[in-house]
Amino acid sequence: MPLKKILCIGAGYVGGPTMAVIAANCPDYDVTVVDINKARIAAWNSKSLPVYEPGLQEIVEKQRGENLHFSTDVVRGIEESDIIFVCVNTPTKTFGLGAGKAADLQYCEKTARMIKEHATKDMIVVEKSTVPVRTSKIINEILSHGDSPHKFEVISNPEFLAEGTAIKDLQNPDRILIGGRPCASGEAAVAEVSAIYESWVAKENIITTDAWSSELSKLTANAFLAQRVSSINSIAAVCESTGADVIKISEAIGADPRIGAKFLKAGPGFGGSCFKKDILNLVYLCETFGLPEVAEYWGQVIKMNDYTQNRAVSRILKSMFNTVAGKRIAVLGFAFKADTGDTRESPAIQIVESLAEERAEIVISDPQALENAQQDLKEIENVSFTDDPYEAVLGAHAIVIVTDWQEYKELDYGKIYSSMEKPAQLFDLRNILSSDELYEIGFNVHLVGKKSKVHKGS
Ligand code: UDX
Ligand code: UDX
Repeated sequence: MPLKKILCIGAGYVGGPTMAVIAANCPDYDVTVVDINKARIAAWNSKSLPVYEPGLQEIVEKQRGENLHFSTDVVRGIEESDIIFVCVNTPTKTFGLGAGKAADLQYCEKTARMIKEHATKDMIVVEKSTVPVRTSKIINEILSHGDSPHKFEVISNPEFLAEGTAIKDLQNPDRILIGGRPCASGEAAVAEVSAIYESWVAKENIITTDAWSSELSKLTANAFLAQRVSSINSIAAVCESTGADVIKISEAIGADPRIGAKFLKAGPGFGGSCFKKDILNLVYLCETFGLPEVAEYWGQVIKMNDYTQNRAVSRILKSMFNTVAGKRIAVLGFAFKADTGDTRESPAIQIVESLAEERAEIVISDPQALENAQQDLKEIENVSFTDDPYEAVLGAHAIVIVTDWQEYKELDYGKIYSSMEKPAQLFDLRNILSSDELYEIGFNVHLVGKKSKVHKGS
């Protein structure tokens, strides 16, 4: 029997890793990933992949050319495929009605129109991009409108992978969510998509539902996760003022199984391409449906995140005698979290921009994200980049750890201290280091949600 053909439109952080894992687990499917971005596809076909994810390179190298292909030929991909996953981006709208909040669905719509134009048979279209509730209905209307001889079934199958652990999350998902129309052809399409995952995921971990609940589940999951981060960051502010310790509080409340221990790390505020975008999307949705109280409730999660990022900068300034002009500050980590080179919405962007406005001389180091950092900061003066953290801290007045990279836990802080200006300030915005040890070395240490440890006379 010929292999069933899967097409994925959008070779980004979601589409690329997801399709690599499907190809690795499903020898009966031939998977092609297409993208309009030629450079991105060239990178997927090279040794240097456009996305850094632990374990991804190995899988891609094994499957590529076997049952995994990367191409820019979107039309041919559509013509030849049986199932299409749509993984194009759905950024926040920057223009017109809903600007700054609503999801910009133009790429989803354009993709649907292309599918309609070039399909050669009946087809399942799987919406993987995060979208507002009821988008599947819109896509369905576009596909079924007019005179196409083919029938389309739109399925919602949101992706819950987190960057940095994408391969682990995809290989061992907590759950797979698949939503379709509550009718015979909808149910058949849900079963067909489910069959792909059943190659490696236990059936009891595959949740099937209606399309709208599936779409809204994804927004809700991200809103709840982001809310936890904002909640613990709000408590961190109380800790810094009172002398309580947020790490101990996370431990104490996380031991309650009703609360759970995960997503209770205070830090510089959440980043990443999803949380802010998806909450804004939810807020807009609530406003549109006449639910202002609900909109305001979720909007507060973002307000708290902005406050957290601003608070980090105020604390740095205050601890450095209210001036950083001309002072060298080493920023360790620019990615929005460890184990990724992604800098979208990274708290580092806002922190560096604010410090640059204060005329600090900033040196940024990151093991994976320097290329993106340079792009993000191309308009900012007084910023330089190095992949060597020891070079970054040379002669610095302060170190600001923004990303929780493992290697920052293993640096020789004695050596670093001796190469810095004094008083040497260390702002660990991820609470990855021991404040006692660093204080012993001589640093003034500032952890999140903990009183600063500052040497007398400095
Ligand atoms: C994106 C969305 O941000 C997320 O909400 C959704 O769940 C999945 O898709 P991500 O993979 O991180 O996540 O986005 P990105 O890395 O920007 O990749 C999207 C890709 O789609 C880009 O490479 C872009 O070139 C491509 N694209 C976009 C197309 O191929 N065709 C288009 O019309 C639009
Ligand atoms: C998130 C969701 O976890 C994932 O399910 C969804 O598919 C996409 O959005 P991602 O943004 O890749 O994934 O990473 P995540 O691990 O959720 O972290 C998001 C941000 O929150 C990061 O900036 C991270 O550092 C921060 N965070 C997370 C905290 O500050 N504290 C925590 O305890 C957890």
